[in-house]
Amino acid sequence: MPFIKVRENGPYLVDVGDEVTLIDWNGRQYPIARRPFALCRCGHSKNKPFCDGTHREVGFQGAEAAPESGTPDPSDPGR
Ligand code: FES
Repeated sequence: MPFIKVRENGPYLVDVGDEVTLIDWNGRQYPIARRPFALCRCGHSKNKPFCDGTHREVGFQGAEAAPESGTPDPSDPGR
């Protein structure tokens, strides 16, 4: 099942298969080197909109978990 996972203190992991495109405000596509891919959530990547791992260096804190009442996704591979 395709999913976007909010990683604790990290990026958005986008694992939605090959059909999705990532476009800018002009409608132009970003080249996607590999899939799944991660989108920067910390704002410090030098390769935006992709994550380049800088969130670790800057100590990004982002741990907004989904409500506990949310239904666990049985297909979540736990990545
Ligand atoms: S979330 Fe990884 S560089 Fe921003």
